[in-house]
Amino acid sequence: MAQPTGYLRIKNIMTTVLVTGGAGYIGSHACVELLNANFDVLVLDNFCNSKATSIKRVEKITGKSITLIEGDVRDKATLTMLFSDHQIDAVMHFAGLKAVSDSVNNPLAYYDNNVMGSITLLEVMSEFSVNNIVFSSSATVYGFSDDKPIPETAPLSPFNPYGHNKRMVEQVLADISIAEPSWNIASLRYFNPVGAHPSGEIGEDPNGVPNNLMPYVSQVAVGKRERLSVFGNDYPTIDGTGVRDYIHVVDLALGHVAALNKLMQGCGLLTLNLGAGRGYSVLELVQAFEASTEQKIPYEIVNRRAGDIAIYFADASLAKQVLGWKTTKTLEDICRDAWRWQTKNPNGY
Ligand SMILES: NC(=O)c1ccc[n+]([C@@H]2O[C@H](COP(=O)([O-])OP(=O)(O)OC[C@H]3O[C@@H](n4cnc5c(N)ncnc54)[C@H](O)[C@@H]3O)[C@@H](O)[C@H]2O)c1
Repeated sequence: MAQPTGYLRIKNIMTTVLVTGGAGYIGSHACVELLNANFDVLVLDNFCNSKATSIKRVEKITGKSITLIEGDVRDKATLTMLFSDHQIDAVMHFAGLKAVSDSVNNPLAYYDNNVMGSITLLEVMSEFSVNNIVFSSSATVYGFSDDKPIPETAPLSPFNPYGHNKRMVEQVLADISIAEPSWNIASLRYFNPVGAHPSGEIGEDPNGVPNNLMPYVSQVAVGKRERLSVFGNDYPTIDGTGVRDYIHVVDLALGHVAALNKLMQGCGLLTLNLGAGRGYSVLELVQAFEASTEQKIPYEIVNRRAGDIAIYFADASLAKQVLGWKTTKTLEDICRDAWRWQTKNPNGY
């Protein structure tokens, strides 16, 4: 007797992805690429660092709709309701607080949101036998690494609460994978996500003074900030300024879809760097921005910041080997897309 097609679809093909923190910077770009790849998307976000407008923009870009639930990933009752009401096949877990300096000043808030939130989510996933998760980790787990580039095998030595949060959740996931081999887990260690969707509809919308270089540069270019402070020009690098691995947020989002496709094949535990695999200095980025946008970026050299590292970039070869994924966007693409987003949305969403 023929099986009803619906049964086959649910049983064999992973279709619905819960995206926690999906209204945020990286989550919204992941939603676009998930929808483009024909996944159904549910978003859970408490909007502590985002606005629901980003989801409307994702729908505008893709012409597809998202089920949006306002709620907190630490709230077990909300999660239980969500998993009862929807057939969820996998989770992309972006929800978290991300400002390193804030984590130093407010460690409890960070452990609560980032570690407890993840554990609550994993408990509910376990109760509902949803065993597929992509987790937003960070290159911060490597701490002061001497490796250039940094492979996944480099020692882990985070040195701030945010980095500890990521390492702890990675450890929880690794332990689950040992206890429950049916779980498929991708811990993705991002380097420096930058840029915006080429449509200019979604991008990074920092609250107040940006913590990261690229949104700061864009805000200087658009006249919101007077000049860029470059922290130190006496590092052992090409021009003395710090070198980082900038990854276009669309490349990053596509890396998530590649990881999800790998989970669908039953991959167990994957821990992968997502980076471009090459570094650019602060001044190289400023020059690329000026050349791509024809905007002048006034800057001044100030003292080094405590805790900054001279050179930090990914060995991105494992992700290429395992996922068949690599970045394709250039530094020029990054600058042009960041600028388009900034000029179309000078005050964010
Ligand atoms: N942007 C980066 O440079 C970077 C680098 C490495 C790792 N990451 C990680 O990637 C993830 C996404 O980062 P992002 O840059 O998109 O940040 P973001 O702040 O733009 O997005 C995070 C989203 O999660 C939501 N959120 C936070 N706590 C929540 C909670 N308890 N319940 C429900 N929603 C909650 C926020 O409202 C926001 O929409 C984070 O986990 C971050 O730590 C980011």
